[in-house]
Amino acid sequence: MEKRKILITGASKGLGLAIAQKLSDEFTLILHASKKENFKTVIPGSHILCADFSDNEQLDNFCKQLKKEHSDSLYAVINNAGVTFDKSLIYQPEREIDAMLNVNLKAPIMICKTALKIFNLNKRGIIINISSCVGETGNAFQSVYAATKAGLVALSKSLAQEVSALNQEHHIRVLSVSPGFIETDMTAAIPQSEKEKYLKMIPANRFGKAEDIAEAIAFLLSEKASYINGTNIHINGGLI
Ligand SMILES: NC(=O)c1ccc[n+]([C@@H]2O[C@H](COP(=O)([O-])OP(=O)(O)OC[C@H]3O[C@@H](n4cnc5c(N)ncnc54)[C@H](OP(=O)(O)O)[C@@H]3O)[C@@H](O)[C@H]2O)c1
Repeated sequence: MEKRKILITGASKGLGLAIAQKLSDEFTLILHASKKENFKTVIPGSHILCADFSDNEQLDNFCKQLKKEHSDSLYAVINNAGVTFDKSLIYQPEREIDAMLNVNLKAPIMICKTALKIFNLNKRGIIINISSCVGETGNAFQSVYAATKAGLVALSKSLAQEVSALNQEHHIRVLSVSPGFIETDMTAAIPQSEKEKYLKMIPANRFGKAEDIAEAIAFLLSEKASYINGTNIHINGGLI
Protein backbone atom coordinates (compact mmCIF):
# COMPACT_ATOMS: atom_id res chain seq x y z
CA MET A 1 0.00 0.00 0.00
CA GLU A 2 1.21 3.51 -0.84
CA LYS A 3 2.45 5.40 2.23
CA ARG A 4 0.49 8.46 3.36
CA LYS A 5 2.14 11.84 2.81
CA ILE A 6 3.04 14.35 5.47
CA LEU A 7 4.28 17.92 5.00
CA ILE A 8 6.76 19.24 7.56
CA THR A 9 7.77 22.87 7.17
CA GLY A 10 11.13 24.05 8.52
CA ALA A 11 12.54 20.52 8.25
CA SER A 12 16.17 21.41 7.50
CA LYS A 13 17.18 21.33 11.18
CA GLY A 14 15.98 21.48 14.78
CA LEU A 15 12.48 20.27 15.61
CA GLY A 16 11.43 19.87 11.97
CA LEU A 17 14.36 17.58 11.15
CA ALA A 18 13.82 15.47 14.29
CA ILE A 19 10.10 15.14 13.43
CA ALA A 20 11.03 14.12 9.87
CA GLN A 21 13.49 11.50 11.10
CA LYS A 22 10.93 10.08 13.54
CA LEU A 23 8.22 9.81 10.88
CA SER A 24 10.30 8.69 7.90
CA ASP A 25 9.46 4.97 8.17
CA GLU A 26 5.73 5.48 8.39
CA PHE A 27 5.11 8.33 5.94
CA THR A 28 6.28 9.71 2.62
CA LEU A 29 7.76 13.03 3.66
CA ILE A 30 7.34 16.39 1.96
CA LEU A 31 10.08 18.47 3.54
CA HIS A 32 10.32 22.24 3.41
CA ALA A 33 13.07 24.78 4.12
CA SER A 34 13.68 28.27 2.81
CA LYS A 35 16.39 27.00 0.41
CA LYS A 36 17.36 23.56 -0.90
CA GLU A 37 21.00 24.00 0.12
CA ASN A 38 19.93 24.34 3.77
CA PHE A 39 19.19 20.61 3.87
CA LYS A 40 22.40 19.09 5.24
CA THR A 41 20.72 15.77 6.05
CA VAL A 42 19.06 13.82 3.23
CA ILE A 43 16.15 11.52 4.08
CA PRO A 44 15.85 9.00 1.23
CA GLY A 45 12.53 9.02 -0.65
CA SER A 46 11.44 12.42 0.63
CA HIS A 47 10.16 15.25 -1.57
CA ILE A 48 11.68 18.71 -1.12
CA LEU A 49 9.57 21.88 -1.50
CA CYS A 50 11.38 25.16 -0.80
CA ALA A 51 10.09 28.67 -0.20
CA ASP A 52 11.12 31.69 1.80
CA PHE A 53 7.90 32.32 3.70
CA SER A 54 8.79 35.96 4.30
CA ASP A 55 8.16 36.44 0.57
CA ASN A 56 4.44 36.42 -0.37
CA GLU A 57 5.05 35.26 -3.93
CA GLN A 58 7.17 32.29 -2.80
CA LEU A 59 4.52 31.36 -0.22
CA ASP A 60 1.79 31.50 -2.86
CA ASN A 61 3.80 29.31 -5.26
CA PHE A 62 4.54 26.87 -2.43
CA CYS A 63 0.81 26.43 -1.68
CA LYS A 64 0.00 26.01 -5.38
CA GLN A 65 2.74 23.39 -5.78
CA LEU A 66 1.58 21.54 -2.66
CA LYS A 67 -1.97 21.31 -4.04
CA LYS A 68 -0.87 20.39 -7.57
CA GLU A 69 1.70 17.75 -6.67
CA HIS A 70 0.58 16.25 -3.36
CA SER A 71 -3.24 16.36 -3.16
CA ASP A 72 -3.52 12.60 -3.71
CA SER A 73 -2.59 11.20 -0.31
CA LEU A 74 -1.75 14.17 1.90
CA TYR A 75 -2.52 12.94 5.42
CA ALA A 76 -1.01 15.58 7.68
CA VAL A 77 0.70 18.97 7.85
CA ILE A 78 3.13 20.07 10.56
CA ASN A 79 3.47 23.87 10.39
CA ASN A 80 6.83 24.07 12.14
CA ALA A 81 8.93 26.71 10.30
CA GLY A 82 9.51 29.70 12.52
CA VAL A 83 11.81 32.61 13.12
CA THR A 84 12.52 34.96 16.00
CA PHE A 85 14.40 38.24 16.33
CA ASP A 86 14.65 38.92 20.04
CA LYS A 87 14.76 42.58 21.00
CA SER A 88 12.66 45.33 22.48
CA LEU A 89 9.75 46.29 20.23
CA ILE A 90 10.94 49.88 20.49
CA TYR A 91 14.08 48.97 18.53
CA GLN A 92 12.61 46.28 16.26
CA PRO A 93 12.82 47.17 12.57
CA GLU A 94 9.60 46.77 10.59
CA ARG A 95 11.25 44.19 8.31
CA GLU A 96 11.82 41.89 11.30
CA ILE A 97 8.21 42.39 12.44
CA ASP A 98 6.98 41.55 8.93
CA ALA A 99 9.26 38.49 8.73
CA MET A 100 7.92 37.07 12.02
CA LEU A 101 4.30 37.77 11.05
CA ASN A 102 4.77 36.20 7.62
CA VAL A 103 6.86 33.14 8.50
CA ASN A 104 5.24 32.29 11.85
CA LEU A 105 1.62 33.21 11.20
CA LYS A 106 0.69 34.06 7.61
CA ALA A 107 2.47 31.02 6.15
CA PRO A 108 0.71 28.56 8.51
CA ILE A 109 -2.63 30.28 7.75
CA MET A 110 -2.14 29.94 3.98
CA ILE A 111 -0.88 26.36 4.31
CA CYS A 112 -3.88 25.48 6.53
CA LYS A 113 -6.15 26.95 3.85
CA THR A 114 -4.53 24.82 1.15
CA ALA A 115 -4.41 21.68 3.31
CA LEU A 116 -8.05 21.96 4.35
CA LYS A 117 -9.14 22.12 0.71
CA ILE A 118 -7.19 18.92 0.09
CA PHE A 119 -8.45 17.28 3.31
CA ASN A 120 -12.06 18.11 2.38
CA LEU A 121 -11.61 16.11 -0.83
CA ASN A 122 -9.95 13.23 1.04
CA LYS A 123 -12.45 13.57 3.95
CA ARG A 124 -9.63 13.27 6.48
CA GLY A 125 -6.40 14.89 7.64
CA ILE A 126 -4.50 16.40 10.54
CA ILE A 127 -2.86 19.80 11.00
CA ILE A 128 -0.44 20.46 13.85
CA ASN A 129 0.73 24.04 14.25
CA ILE A 130 3.92 24.48 16.28
CA SER A 131 3.28 27.33 18.69
CA SER A 132 5.39 28.09 21.79
CA CYS A 133 5.02 28.37 25.57
CA VAL A 134 5.57 32.13 25.18
CA GLY A 135 2.33 32.32 23.18
CA GLU A 136 0.61 31.82 26.52
CA THR A 137 3.02 33.36 29.04
CA GLY A 138 4.40 36.20 26.95
CA ASN A 139 8.13 36.95 27.08
CA ALA A 140 10.07 40.20 27.32
CA PHE A 141 11.93 40.98 24.08
CA GLN A 142 9.82 38.46 22.15
CA SER A 143 6.55 40.39 21.96
CA VAL A 144 5.92 39.98 18.22
CA TYR A 145 7.16 36.38 18.20
CA ALA A 146 4.89 35.59 21.18
CA ALA A 147 1.95 37.29 19.43
CA THR A 148 2.42 35.09 16.34
CA LYS A 149 2.57 31.98 18.53
CA ALA A 150 -0.60 32.95 20.43
CA GLY A 151 -2.19 33.46 17.01
CA LEU A 152 -1.43 29.85 16.06
CA VAL A 153 -3.25 28.54 19.14
CA ALA A 154 -6.36 30.59 18.29
CA LEU A 155 -6.08 29.62 14.61
CA SER A 156 -5.95 25.90 15.45
CA LYS A 157 -8.87 26.00 17.89
CA SER A 158 -11.00 28.04 15.46
CA LEU A 159 -10.26 25.78 12.49
CA ALA A 160 -11.07 22.63 14.48
CA GLN A 161 -14.50 24.14 15.23
CA GLU A 162 -14.97 25.40 11.67
CA VAL A 163 -14.11 22.07 10.06
CA SER A 164 -16.70 20.33 12.23
CA ALA A 165 -19.30 23.05 11.55
CA LEU A 166 -18.83 22.55 7.80
CA ASN A 167 -18.94 18.76 7.77
CA GLN A 168 -19.34 16.48 10.75
CA GLU A 169 -18.68 13.37 8.65
CA HIS A 170 -15.05 14.33 7.95
CA HIS A 171 -12.22 13.12 10.17
CA ILE A 172 -10.12 16.27 10.22
CA ARG A 173 -8.25 17.38 13.35
CA VAL A 174 -6.47 20.69 13.94
CA LEU A 175 -4.35 21.34 17.02
CA SER A 176 -1.28 23.15 18.23
CA VAL A 177 1.78 22.12 20.21
CA SER A 178 3.63 24.53 22.48
CA PRO A 179 7.22 23.48 23.15
CA GLY A 180 9.07 24.96 26.11
CA PHE A 181 12.84 25.49 25.96
CA ILE A 182 14.24 23.03 23.39
CA GLU A 183 17.94 22.83 22.49
CA THR A 184 18.16 23.84 18.81
CA ASP A 185 19.82 26.62 16.78
CA MET A 186 16.93 28.89 17.80
CA THR A 187 17.89 28.75 21.49
CA ALA A 188 21.66 28.36 20.99
CA ALA A 189 22.18 32.13 20.87
CA ILE A 190 20.61 32.72 24.31
CA PRO A 191 23.34 33.82 26.77
CA GLN A 192 24.45 31.19 29.34
CA SER A 193 23.26 33.32 32.27
CA GLU A 194 19.75 33.47 30.76
CA LYS A 195 19.79 29.71 30.15
CA GLU A 196 20.61 29.08 33.80
CA LYS A 197 17.62 31.21 34.81
CA TYR A 198 15.33 29.19 32.51
CA LEU A 199 16.70 25.88 33.81
CA LYS A 200 15.69 26.80 37.36
CA MET A 201 12.11 27.20 36.08
CA ILE A 202 11.93 23.68 34.60
CA PRO A 203 10.82 20.98 37.08
CA ALA A 204 12.19 18.28 34.74
CA ASN A 205 15.67 19.74 35.45
CA ARG A 206 16.76 19.73 31.84
CA PHE A 207 16.13 21.52 28.58
CA GLY A 208 14.02 19.69 26.03
CA LYS A 209 15.47 17.84 23.07
CA ALA A 210 14.07 18.00 19.55
CA GLU A 211 13.31 14.27 19.93
CA ASP A 212 10.97 15.02 22.88
CA ILE A 213 8.80 17.00 20.50
CA ALA A 214 9.12 14.46 17.67
CA GLU A 215 7.89 11.63 19.93
CA ALA A 216 4.83 13.64 20.94
CA ILE A 217 4.05 14.59 17.32
CA ALA A 218 4.22 10.92 16.27
CA PHE A 219 1.68 10.09 18.99
CA LEU A 220 -0.61 13.02 18.07
CA LEU A 221 -0.68 11.82 14.45
CA SER A 222 -1.64 8.28 15.46
CA GLU A 223 -5.12 6.78 15.76
CA LYS A 224 -4.50 6.54 19.52
CA ALA A 225 -4.76 10.35 19.60
CA SER A 226 -7.92 10.51 17.48
CA TYR A 227 -9.87 12.32 20.26
CA ILE A 228 -7.23 15.03 20.71
CA ASN A 229 -8.52 17.96 18.68
CA GLY A 230 -8.93 21.75 18.82
CA THR A 231 -6.55 22.12 21.73
CA ASN A 232 -3.01 23.18 22.58
CA ILE A 233 -0.57 20.60 23.94
CA HIS A 234 2.27 21.89 26.16
CA ILE A 235 5.58 19.99 26.03
CA ASN A 236 7.88 21.86 28.36
CA GLY A 237 9.13 19.71 31.25
CA GLY A 238 6.75 21.59 33.55
CA LEU A 239 8.17 25.07 32.76
CA ILE A 240 6.23 27.61 34.77
N1 LIG B 1 13.63 25.66 20.11
C1 LIG B 1 12.74 26.03 21.00
O1 LIG B 1 13.03 26.14 22.22
C2 LIG B 1 11.33 26.33 20.59
C3 LIG B 1 10.40 26.60 21.62
C4 LIG B 1 9.08 26.86 21.27
C5 LIG B 1 8.69 26.86 19.95
N2 LIG B 1 9.61 26.63 18.97
C6 LIG B 1 9.13 26.65 17.58
O2 LIG B 1 9.47 25.42 16.97
C7 LIG B 1 9.66 25.64 15.56
C8 LIG B 1 11.02 25.06 15.15
O3 LIG B 1 12.04 25.74 15.91
P1 LIG B 1 13.55 25.25 15.97
O4 LIG B 1 14.00 25.49 17.34
O5 LIG B 1 13.67 23.90 15.35
O6 LIG B 1 14.21 26.36 15.03
P2 LIG B 1 15.46 26.29 14.01
O7 LIG B 1 16.40 25.22 14.40
O8 LIG B 1 15.95 27.69 13.94
O9 LIG B 1 14.75 25.89 12.62
C9 LIG B 1 13.84 26.78 12.02
C10 LIG B 1 13.29 26.20 10.73
O10 LIG B 1 12.39 27.18 10.16
C11 LIG B 1 12.81 27.49 8.84
N3 LIG B 1 12.68 28.90 8.50
C12 LIG B 1 13.23 29.96 9.16
N4 LIG B 1 12.99 31.10 8.48
C13 LIG B 1 12.28 30.75 7.38
C14 LIG B 1 11.74 31.48 6.26
N5 LIG B 1 11.92 32.81 6.12
N6 LIG B 1 11.08 30.80 5.30
C15 LIG B 1 10.92 29.47 5.40
N7 LIG B 1 11.41 28.72 6.40
C16 LIG B 1 12.09 29.36 7.39
C17 LIG B 1 14.30 27.14 8.79
O11 LIG B 1 14.66 26.85 7.43
P3 LIG B 1 16.10 27.31 6.83
O12 LIG B 1 17.08 26.30 7.33
O13 LIG B 1 15.92 27.27 5.37
O14 LIG B 1 16.35 28.69 7.36
C18 LIG B 1 14.38 25.92 9.70
O15 LIG B 1 14.10 24.75 8.98
C19 LIG B 1 9.57 27.14 15.34
O16 LIG B 1 8.29 27.47 14.88
C20 LIG B 1 9.79 27.72 16.74
O17 LIG B 1 9.18 28.96 16.88
C21 LIG B 1 10.92 26.35 19.27
